[in-house]
Amino acid sequence: MRFPLSLPGADALIVGFDRALRTLAGVATSSRPVPGADLPHPELDDAARRHAAGLMRVNHAGEVCAQALYAAQALVARDPDVKARFASAAREEEDHLAWTQSRVAELGDRTSLLNPIWYAGSFAIGVAAGIAGDRVNLGFVVETERQVEEHLTGHMDALPPADAKSRAIVERMRDDEARHGDMAQAAGATELPRPIRDAMRVAASVMKSVAYRI
Ligand SMILES: [Fe+2]
Ligand SMILES: [Fe+2]
Repeated sequence: MRFPLSLPGADALIVGFDRALRTLAGVATSSRPVPGADLPHPELDDAARRHAAGLMRVNHAGEVCAQALYAAQALVARDPDVKARFASAAREEEDHLAWTQSRVAELGDRTSLLNPIWYAGSFAIGVAAGIAGDRVNLGFVVETERQVEEHLTGHMDALPPADAKSRAIVERMRDDEARHGDMAQAAGATELPRPIRDAMRVAASVMKSVAYRI
């Protein structure tokens, strides 16, 4: 069934604006307990603590991007069922946002200063994918979640061995991202062309290396 592209109404724009403000103001709330909350705080030397904080800052920036992508795509998606799926994935992404934010704070560090830029860039990309149609939109979600899943698997090794608390969060996020990708695939995603997938990887690697530091 084909659904026409409809312009978002004022209420959808207000909800979208509210999401942007809440994401950037760092007031995300979690609907599930923080994974690894019962684990003891690890003994980390300063270099290990800063490295773990840098990696979790990257993951938090990634979740800021996820908020923007899902908000944009839900705004311009045509099929009400696709919109509903995006809304439920976005709820889990807000958990990820809250978990990574709290872990960065526990590690005595701050989130990325460039979060407004990550949000704005991802929102623009999400709108572009949404305008291309629901199948492309879903394909974009599949590819994003696949790349994030790979990235988080890399962090399982890259985090300091003693930091089981961060690892517990990353592991749960990775499971959720895999499910989000499967959901989008099952909803009828089309595979994105290779050059677009490669461009997404390049953009993500720029974001990761900058957010690790800033
Ligand atoms: Fe996520
Ligand atoms: Fe996800």
